[in-house]
Amino acid sequence: MVKKIVLSFLLLINISLVFSQQKTISQKVDALLKQMTIEEKIGQLTQYSFDWRATGPITVKRDQEEAIKNGKVGAMLNVLGSKYTRQYQEIAMQSRLKIPLLFGQDVIHGYKTTFPIPLAEAASWDLEAMELSARIAATEASASGINWIFAPMVDIARDPRWGRVMEGAGEDTYLGSKIAYARVKGFQGKSGDINAVIACAKHFAAYGAAIGGRDYNSADMSDRMLWETYLPPFKAAVDAGAATFMNSFNDINGIPASGNKYILSDILKGKWKFKGFVVSDWGSIGEMVAHGYAKDSKEAALAAITAGTDMDMESNAYRNNLAQLVKEKKVSIKLVNDAVRKILQKKFELGLFDDPFKYSNSEREQQELNNPEHTKIAREIAGKSIVLLKNTPPFAKVGAGVLPLSKDIKTIAFIGPMVKPLRANHGAWAINLPEIDSTYIVSQWKGLENKLGKNTQLLYAKGCEIDGQNKDGFAEAIAIANQADAVILSIGERWDMSGEAKSRSNIHLPGVQEDLVKAIMATGKPLVVLINAGRPLIFNWTADNVPAILYTWWLGSEAGNAIADVLFGDVNPSAKLPISFPREEGQIPIYYNKFNTGRPFDNNQHSPYRSAYIDLPGSPKYPFGFGLSYTTFEYSELKLSKKKIKNTENIEVSINITNTGKVFGEEIVQLYLRDKVGSVVRPIMELKDFQKIKLNVGETKTVKFIIDNQKLSFYNEKLEFKSEPGDFDLMIGASSSDIRLRDTFELIK
Ligand code: NOJ
Repeated sequence: MVKKIVLSFLLLINISLVFSQQKTISQKVDALLKQMTIEEKIGQLTQYSFDWRATGPITVKRDQEEAIKNGKVGAMLNVLGSKYTRQYQEIAMQSRLKIPLLFGQDVIHGYKTTFPIPLAEAASWDLEAMELSARIAATEASASGINWIFAPMVDIARDPRWGRVMEGAGEDTYLGSKIAYARVKGFQGKSGDINAVIACAKHFAAYGAAIGGRDYNSADMSDRMLWETYLPPFKAAVDAGAATFMNSFNDINGIPASGNKYILSDILKGKWKFKGFVVSDWGSIGEMVAHGYAKDSKEAALAAITAGTDMDMESNAYRNNLAQLVKEKKVSIKLVNDAVRKILQKKFELGLFDDPFKYSNSEREQQELNNPEHTKIAREIAGKSIVLLKNTPPFAKVGAGVLPLSKDIKTIAFIGPMVKPLRANHGAWAINLPEIDSTYIVSQWKGLENKLGKNTQLLYAKGCEIDGQNKDGFAEAIAIANQADAVILSIGERWDMSGEAKSRSNIHLPGVQEDLVKAIMATGKPLVVLINAGRPLIFNWTADNVPAILYTWWLGSEAGNAIADVLFGDVNPSAKLPISFPREEGQIPIYYNKFNTGRPFDNNQHSPYRSAYIDLPGSPKYPFGFGLSYTTFEYSELKLSKKKIKNTENIEVSINITNTGKVFGEEIVQLYLRDKVGSVVRPIMELKDFQKIKLNVGETKTVKFIIDNQKLSFYNEKLEFKSEPGDFDLMIGASSSDIRLRDTFELIK
């Protein structure tokens, strides 16, 4: 009893301490706000980029220097390294009120240590790993002076032509929301820590729905599609405590996101009660003029601030117009104050007023940027992200698949344009740090060398370029393949072929690479193809003819080692595709959680009157959730604790998974549901849970899932998130198209 009283007393003290601290910050913010001129306030709402083309002794642009000194800049981006961030902060300290700058940066998949691109990492379905990689990225960045990370990108993407598909978690809302949550937590860390930073969920909203996959394009969709498919990962980011949001470039049903009151004020700041601040995307406020939504920069500024965009990145729309708009009483000073308050609040919370140079610490930077633990983890996560797409016996032989390769192979030919380059493994959105060379990146060649002893001879030929039509290198590649006992061919997309503004109408393997595959296959040697890319590519001949294929995405600085780990079986691949791979571009968008239509394409195959193409099957080449292992898993004993439930009750689902193969492995067990009849039509299946489990040879584990009312609910016609009584299908599978166990249950009134 005494213990209980003491505990509650301590809790009370703790709560009041937290409260008084919060009160202190908001009091400090208010006190500061009172001293600020309108120009200084607008300064806090203004963000500029460092001109990274400027090299040499002039590191700070003259006009920026003046603006910062005059309190007209609140945040910078693209200032890299403790030395330069310190330089900028010193200038801010010369301003009248000495308000420290925020330093934002696109830390998309690592800082110096580069992790797999986010889409690749999503293939690991390993939430802890993704949280950890985000934490490491933030730790390195924060030591370099960065206190604001422009990630995670949580846009759902169903169109692989869109280059930015590489930056997100793929096509699925459930998986995407879990990943959004994990990444926000990882980036931000623990408030108050030396390496805690603020994250930025982007791009709000529906950026991934750009028409035809053309970057920056319009998103035109029903409200229900918006709520059901595109918004949940953003809500998950709010739930995880994301400090900031970034506008998207697109218009949503005709209203540009930066001036979209429905999205920003009604949903984000209203319904979701988001307390952080919203930054525009680069120039997106000004772009409302090009959209034809605002007549000029002044109207654009008015639309943006009124809708709820707090900070202007690189448009100069606020800086040039906001004071006048306040004077003309078109914008209330309260609106401006509210935006400034939120930004100052974050600066106080980060501890920047106590120590503006807290993040620009060259000693810590040295340490963190060379931390071997980070490299080790990058290698592990890269291994977890590699998807085994195919592993059949070489040619007519029966027995095991080509992979894993034996370390005793005498001669291996390692061929392809991706074998030796370093940068190729980083992919798009890697950070090019000034004054740091790239030798810390492990090329695929080096990875193999590291793995193999002197007994294996490694032969190399480039074969061809990534793009272009030149086949001159084929002869040399064929010659070394003929000398080898096995061939590994590494092909794919160059790092600058996916990413922002890198939409492609043709997502087949570029250039003559697939012809190279054909030429090497013709040698009759056992062949493994590695496909490195920032999106799902199309490679039908390879998929149908080559015995072993690993999808290696862009894996980051440890790519070479991680690929070697998987090739030689030190790591058993366990990743599963977070996005469907189309057979041809004409199938796009293709995603697993589609509606059935009145004439489903995969039923009634004999009727021509179905929702299908007459020249292609209805299924993708590789489905969502697909990925093989060097072992096999058996699914059995599906049990449901109840077959009828009320919406206040749960069902406990259990299944047994057994490793029936010859090596240790990890399996991602997926739970899908289908609501058979709804007041609005429901998808044929939806991922509602998953678990990643480790199994030794012969081991069986029982996996348990809980089905609660949340999992049965959806946005109805009135946009209420509710379940409806009726029958449900339950599917447990190894992918969306490999359902191993099924059952049904009923939700009763
Ligand atoms: C434009 C991109 O859309 C956004 O994701 C990024 O954060 C900003 N540029 C800043 O680099």
